[in-house]
Amino acid sequence: MIVLGIESSCDELSMALVEDGKKILSMVTSSQIEHHLPYSGVVPELAGRLHAQHLLEVYRSTLEQAGISHFDGLAVTIKPGLAGSLLVGLSFAKGLSLAKKLPLVGVDHLLAHLYAPHLAGELEYPFLGLLVSGGHTLLVLMKDPFAMSVLGTTVDDAVGEVYDKVAKFLNLGYPGGPVIDQLAQSGNDRAFHFPPGKLEKGRRPCDMSFSGLKTAVLYQREQFRAKTVPQPSVADLVASFQRRIIGILINRIEKAVELTGVRRVVVGGGVAANSYLRRLAQEKTAWEWHFPPLKLCTDNGAMIAALGWEYLKQGTTHGLELQVSSKAVRATGDGYS
Ligand code: KG4
Ligand code: ZN
Repeated sequence: MIVLGIESSCDELSMALVEDGKKILSMVTSSQIEHHLPYSGVVPELAGRLHAQHLLEVYRSTLEQAGISHFDGLAVTIKPGLAGSLLVGLSFAKGLSLAKKLPLVGVDHLLAHLYAPHLAGELEYPFLGLLVSGGHTLLVLMKDPFAMSVLGTTVDDAVGEVYDKVAKFLNLGYPGGPVIDQLAQSGNDRAFHFPPGKLEKGRRPCDMSFSGLKTAVLYQREQFRAKTVPQPSVADLVASFQRRIIGILINRIEKAVELTGVRRVVVGGGVAANSYLRRLAQEKTAWEWHFPPLKLCTDNGAMIAALGWEYLKQGTTHGLELQVSSKAVRATGDGYS
């Protein structure tokens, strides 16, 4: 079964044709980074409009690249994300489904991120999933592709968001993750001691907080400006920041392994590209790590098509009443527990 996957939840419009949930026949992604760059972040209204402009071109290129004109089903991201952006993708998918008389299924973007490693090789269940992107930070237990048990989440900013904000404060550019990752390689990661991100009472052991760390980096920066301390290098500052933020992630995975006894770890989302995280993973040889290739870690249509295939092959389809949701959880039992 060949499924067309449509992903438009944020600032990337991506479509892919995937055969039997495994073989990527084609994938075309239209990125909007240059349009959002002047604002140092994604402008929702602009994202939706640009998706609408590029839909047909991306769709035609996806078919052309695969060299086919027929496919068997449609999968589209319906949550979570920017409502306007999601609506563009869903409306297009509904139109195609009607015109071509093809089954349609709506897919959760976060579940799809954690399904992505199936496109790169074998992956068995259960596993711990660490989802770290610009919008989300979640640590979950996956026993099958359709539902996640949430062990912990960030209580404030997402990890990628903190990278982006720190880079913005330091005038390093956007998106901040790759810039900081690169610059940190020439810095001393022990030059500054940043707080470990304290949690209020009542939080789960795998929950995380990053806003204190972000403020601490800002505060250091203000101190430089006030010249109350000798001027350290920005590379030292970001290296120390990175050591702390990635250290928090590793610490929470350690807790999740203790809690569940599961040692298989899948990392997804843009921050999965981080070289320091990947280096630390290599040192943690007692855990079985899965880092999908980068094009499958970031937002992409292939993961939507692949997870969509799992639903379609068991006969799950959705009708034209399908709706989008900006939030991950719409109702109890909505794929989360
Ligand atoms: O998953 P993604 O492509 O988009 C969504 O947010 O959905 O993730 C983008 C995020 C950005 O915040 C970016 O700064 C971060 O991933 N990122 C990184 C790296 N590459 C991208 N963060 C740390 N290190 C990197 N090498
Ligand atoms: Zn994503």
